[in-house]
Amino acid sequence: MKYIVYVSQAAKAFSTDDLAGLLTHSRKRNSADGVSGLLVYRYNSDFKRGNFLQVLEGTDDALDDVWRRISGDPRHHTIIVLDEGKSETRMFGDWSMGFRNVDESDLAKFAGFSELGSDAFWQDAKKQALPDALSTLRSFYDAI
Ligand SMILES: Cc1cc2nc3c(=O)[nH]c(=O)nc-3n(C[C@H](O)[C@H](O)[C@H](O)COP(=O)(O)O)c2cc1C
Repeated sequence: MKYIVYVSQAAKAFSTDDLAGLLTHSRKRNSADGVSGLLVYRYNSDFKRGNFLQVLEGTDDALDDVWRRISGDPRHHTIIVLDEGKSETRMFGDWSMGFRNVDESDLAKFAGFSELGSDAFWQDAKKQALPDALSTLRSFYDAI
């Protein structure tokens, strides 16, 4: 098994319909390909910019394949891989792709997540050893 965690910038602000379309297609493909994970979208009104954070996990071949498609998708850019590696077990096995569209009030509940998208946030996130960072993400997902 492999996993990859990245952040990116949305090429445009995603509407609810855009997000629903992306998710429906992704979930269908991921279920067929045995890919699971978590997708977070946050629109930052100060910067007028949408950010994605995604965790993907699956077999080596499945992950290489989905990554090739996602990393070439013009709907987002400035893709930064925060972490990638091997894992024995799935952390997000119960979803083909969990999803949250988060806003300020969601983030305010989480001190560590209040600056999602900022450089400082990602510096802190990188300091956390995986799988600790992934379990933090998972509890964030579960709590919202
Ligand atoms: C932020 C983002 C996340 C995505 N996540 C997934 C995903 O988890 N699984 C997937 O198959 N496609 C995902 N996609 C879509 C792929 O980039 C690609 O459009 C799609 O897999 C092509 O599928 P098709 O070959 O069936 O047309 C994502 C795209 C974006 C922009």
